[in-house]
Amino acid sequence: MAGTAPRTIGVVGTGVIGAGWTVRALARGHAVVAWDPAPGAEERLRAAVDQAWPSATRLGLFPGADRSRLAWAATADDLAGRVDWIQENVPEDEDVKRPLLQALAGVAGPEVVIASSSSGLLPTRLQEGCRYPERVLIGHPFNPVYLLPLVEVVAGRQTSIEAVDAAQTHYDDLVMHPLVVRTEIEGYLSDRLQEALWREILHLVNDGVATTRELDEAVYYGPGLRWAGMGTNLTFHLAGGKGGMRHMLGQFGPALKLPWTKLEAPDLTSDLIEAMAAGCEEQAEGRSMTELERLRDDYLVNVMRSLRPLGLGAGQLVAEREARIHEAGLPAQWSEGDPVAAPLTLYETTVEPDWVDYNGHMSEWAFLTAFGWASDKLFRYVGIDEDYRSAGHTFFTVETHLNYVREASLTDPLRFTTQVLGVDAKRLHFFHAMEHATTGDLLCTTEQMLLHVDTRVGSTTPLLPGPAAALTAIAKAHADLPVPPQVGQVMGLT
Ligand SMILES: NC(=O)c1ccc[n+]([C@@H]2O[C@H](COP(=O)([O-])OP(=O)(O)OC[C@H]3O[C@@H](n4cnc5c(N)ncnc54)[C@H](O)[C@@H]3O)[C@@H](O)[C@H]2O)c1
Repeated sequence: MAGTAPRTIGVVGTGVIGAGWTVRALARGHAVVAWDPAPGAEERLRAAVDQAWPSATRLGLFPGADRSRLAWAATADDLAGRVDWIQENVPEDEDVKRPLLQALAGVAGPEVVIASSSSGLLPTRLQEGCRYPERVLIGHPFNPVYLLPLVEVVAGRQTSIEAVDAAQTHYDDLVMHPLVVRTEIEGYLSDRLQEALWREILHLVNDGVATTRELDEAVYYGPGLRWAGMGTNLTFHLAGGKGGMRHMLGQFGPALKLPWTKLEAPDLTSDLIEAMAAGCEEQAEGRSMTELERLRDDYLVNVMRSLRPLGLGAGQLVAEREARIHEAGLPAQWSEGDPVAAPLTLYETTVEPDWVDYNGHMSEWAFLTAFGWASDKLFRYVGIDEDYRSAGHTFFTVETHLNYVREASLTDPLRFTTQVLGVDAKRLHFFHAMEHATTGDLLCTTEQMLLHVDTRVGSTTPLLPGPAAALTAIAKAHADLPVPPQVGQVMGLT
């Protein structure tokens, strides 16, 4: 559901999860009204939004995304009367959630869906006593909510199909993956899986079999890497070799009778609590929670991006987000008669954490990556998008000249200008300049020659009429621009 109009999202309870929803909605370009009765909650929320904003930015901000679009409500009633959607994120306790949900439902119009972020409570219990109970459901996210796309949607006995549909549309609009849990069950799906692992960990620590660090190593050097792309079942299908899951079950089926798991949790004694907490503190190696959160966010973004070209798991949503941000952004795709800026300014960004080397400066290869995104913007502007590519048409770069002028440092704002130097039926010659967006200093330039190809037959082919007309119009508008001094240079010692 790309292109849903900006809305106002209500966030009730602004701890870890409420703050995460706030960032996700603001990054999508929506307004947020938040409320939490704890003293100092507003300041804490604003600080949490500031802390998470760079990570949300790396994943991509929609046009209109603005931290100042966060407002604070005086009371729950005040919030409920001002918003199009309510996301409740108060402590995991039915006695706290139920009266609050009833109060919110008493004020919010019948069209406003009220979603609880509960990790495992039954929606049938939560919607009891609410006005218009059919609009109450679970929307269970995963921390950090502004990065992880999964949200489990669980209906209670009174929840309407329309509310479930609205939830799917709403979460899809936030570029999430709404997973509808078809049977109302405690713990839903993902937390049941996590809980199995978690209980096993508690036993193994309690029995002195392993430390928290060893058990984390047992995940992140092995199965954890597989889970991000393929989950447990498809991974085990591969574990069966050519015979797949059938062979795998034949081989490991007897192990299911072995005492390989103890699903019943151990008693949470003070010794066990101490072993778990001390183990994790030792693993933190003196790093603060803020440092660890930054590190977690950076690797999550990197993992999700690495899945993008493979079309696996969350990588698909990274691509979807890019396409939607472009679609919602300006300038829109060029069409016949539109004026053309000379040069074009289609892309702005900031220097990202994985673009810098040990000096804190942007690495050589990262300049080309950034120029690649600028080219992507040009392609989309002329109508070369997912549909064009999936029909087998695209450009291949055949020659690139980079000129490094000044270094760029972590978080520096960057602006790219694009000049089309020439285009014919099958070739495109253009020039991008990268500037510091605040100082205007020139940082780097690239001149490139591209060939238009048909990937299905593996040869060059003429541009289709839409992009051809757009590029011709741009080349005409750019014809009077001075040719940049970096164009056509040859490298040599003389
Ligand atoms: N932390 C996670 O990883 C995670 C993941 C998914 C879902 N959840 C669920 O999200 C919900 C919130 O969890 P959290 O981790 O953000 O907790 P948290 O303790 O960080 O935040 C809870 C917030 O609710 C506020 N609050 C308490 N009573 C309130 C009331 N009556 N009205 C309004 N606000 C009130 C508190 O002041 C606090 O800011 C829980 O239902 C939890 O199960 C948590």
